[in-house]
Amino acid sequence: MSGVGHGKAILLGEHAVVEGAPALVSALPEGVIVEAGPGAPRLEIEVPGWSMHVRNGDPGLPGEALAALCAALVEDGLPPEALEVKLSVEARIPDRAGVGSSAALAVGLARALAERAEYAPLLEEGADARLEAIVAASEAVFHGRASGVDAAVAVHGGVGLFQPGRGFSPLTPGVPASLVVAHTGPKPPTREAVEHVRQRCRASAEARRALQRLGDLAEAGEELLRAGDLRALGEAMDEAQHHLAFFDLSTPDLDAAVAAARAAGALGAKLTGAGGGGCIVALCPVGEERPVAESLERRCPWVGSFPCEEKR
Ligand code: PMV
Repeated sequence: MSGVGHGKAILLGEHAVVEGAPALVSALPEGVIVEAGPGAPRLEIEVPGWSMHVRNGDPGLPGEALAALCAALVEDGLPPEALEVKLSVEARIPDRAGVGSSAALAVGLARALAERAEYAPLLEEGADARLEAIVAASEAVFHGRASGVDAAVAVHGGVGLFQPGRGFSPLTPGVPASLVVAHTGPKPPTREAVEHVRQRCRASAEARRALQRLGDLAEAGEELLRAGDLRALGEAMDEAQHHLAFFDLSTPDLDAAVAAARAAGALGAKLTGAGGGGCIVALCPVGEERPVAESLERRCPWVGSFPCEEKR
């Protein structure tokens, strides 16, 4: 019995999405896989890849987020005794890196617990919206005012346009693409970056225009991906990186990784997520990702290649 949650890479539209604009986003498939283990007096999870060991109700953010997730599951109708288990987690994405690790974990945990208890409401076709609402409870602990993009993609998988209030609309790329994601190092909490962008927009019309452009690029990017125009999509990602850097969300390490990816043949590259550290995402034609990944492996502590494709 296992539960899967997907990571995410925002191709276009981070920060703008907090203000209601769309974001073009791809799942990092099976970012987290959760296996049920032996019984335990209270829910306990072990994530060796993230050096994380936490029990329901432990002090600190992970314990609080887990408590919020458990409360939401019980509220939904999961029998409380279903939470008396130890779960072990295989993480294929880094944590606190801008690739949706907390939402992927919450989705994987919820699915594994529902599977173990044979709790049909979260397992049947059409359970996605319900699962997203449950995961939103634990995401709120980590992120404060979040757009919901992480939870939506962690549940759905695939690639598509996310818009607050409208949710996730999957799309089929005109041609398949590959994403190379590279972690440059730790990043500050998302809520700080979100607040920083908000202050900048409050103070300057130029910042408001830049944020607007980030949302417009996401909307245009959806059409480009649907049409299979990867070259133009890569250019849009490069332009987005320029605007994100204008907000001081890039760092010397992110800049260097973006430059290395482009020099190695990526069609476009940018930071992904809140920025200030964390990951970059580079767009490549399928079969051409290897030199990009190898170049990034020489400078980054973690690199992964993922398909950018419709949900399977
Ligand atoms: O860095 P992450 O994975 O927390 O992504 C943040 C993305 C933002 O658009 C900045 C915030 C949000 O809630 O969408």
